[in-house]
Amino acid sequence: MNKNIVIAIDGYSSCGKSTLAKALAQKLHFIYVDSGAMYRAVTLYFLRHHVSLHNHEQITEALKNIHLNFHSRDYQTHITLNDEEVSDEIRHMPVSDNVSAIAALREVRHEMVKQQQRMGRSKNIVMDGRDIGTTVFPDAQLKIFMTADPNVRAERRYKELYAKDPDITLEEVFENLAHRDYLDTTREESPLVRAADAIILDNTNLTPDEQLQFALDKVKPLLSV
Ligand code: CDP
Repeated sequence: MNKNIVIAIDGYSSCGKSTLAKALAQKLHFIYVDSGAMYRAVTLYFLRHHVSLHNHEQITEALKNIHLNFHSRDYQTHITLNDEEVSDEIRHMPVSDNVSAIAALREVRHEMVKQQQRMGRSKNIVMDGRDIGTTVFPDAQLKIFMTADPNVRAERRYKELYAKDPDITLEEVFENLAHRDYLDTTREESPLVRAADAIILDNTNLTPDEQLQFALDKVKPLLSV
């Protein structure tokens, strides 16, 4: 019997990973997992419960009390934190401003990676994040590392956020992306880095359809074996 197929999509903040991952999953009828949503939901819990990032006991205790679940509807990310739907709130600025510091904590990463590996054990899956091709699924059959011009990334995210919060500024969004990229690439525990066998996809000048076609061309050989 064929082993299940894992597609790992990693890359910088707001460079279209989840748009591509969702489109691929939908086309291939694979499960889609947005690993960033998990770190964001953990961050929301830590903020609400004032968990100190220096107190290892508190962190371990908090992680025991966090139960995350994905509810896959129409290939959008629907995530619950202890049965509360938090899909919108995890995209707000307070979470974006704190997520990279919390995602750098060893205890947090170990717990999330364990849960992510469980999700990919027996299913065909597309997962996007920062360490999917390096740490979560180092044996993934296809790894894509996405990148795009930082100004283009900021403008895309600004447009998304502005629709819900007209007070947001482009500068604020640009700074947040730059800060997260800095923390994500320089942390000790599984930093954001391209896996040696990942294919680079710079989508600065590509439409979503062109990106999907690029990825489908790479997936095709995997489906025929
Ligand atoms: O969608 P966006 O690019 O803004 O970020 P995200 O995928 O929602 O991830 C939010 C944050 O979670 C990242 O900036 C990382 O700090 C962290 N993250 C991580 O450390 N490892 C992952 N596999 C996914 C996200």
